[in-house]
Amino acid sequence: MKNLILVIVFFSLTSCYYDSEEALYGTPGSTVCDTTVTNFSTVIQPILSSNCWACHSNSAGPSSGAGVLLQNYTDVKTYVQNGKLIGDIQQLSGFNQMPKGGMKLSDCDILKIQTWIKKGALNN
Ligand code: HEC
Repeated sequence: MKNLILVIVFFSLTSCYYDSEEALYGTPGSTVCDTTVTNFSTVIQPILSSNCWACHSNSAGPSSGAGVLLQNYTDVKTYVQNGKLIGDIQQLSGFNQMPKGGMKLSDCDILKIQTWIKKGALNN
């Protein structure tokens, strides 16, 4: 009798399992990070503008961003080349955590910035 109950419990637990396409792959479109276009002016600058310019625009940088400017290409490139831009937004240990005091960027935004850097961090 005890064994029969165990068998019933076992099957009632396992038989409900099914592979829902949504559970496996997520809602179509929502988990896909499109990195085909990662131009500085149309993709990277807008990410920096909404997440970083409160402290690192040309006007806010000197007072709120410790002098760090992330508005113009040449200024951003400096922090690409010294590795701090990517280290800070990935919040790696030994780096400053950016955005300071704010929410970490989404994985997709980080991936877009990484992809742009990997393609040569062009002024495009
Ligand atoms: C609330 C203000 C604020 C925001 C928002 C902010 N930062 Fe910063 N950032 C600072 C300050 C202040 C420093 C100076 C270092 C420190 O105090 O941590 C700094 C330093 C930096 C540096 C200099 C290199 C270093 O690590 O010392 C980089 C690069 C940087 N921030 C990138 C970013 C990026 C990218 C974002 C947006 C994703 C961002 N920051 C958002 C305030 C901010």
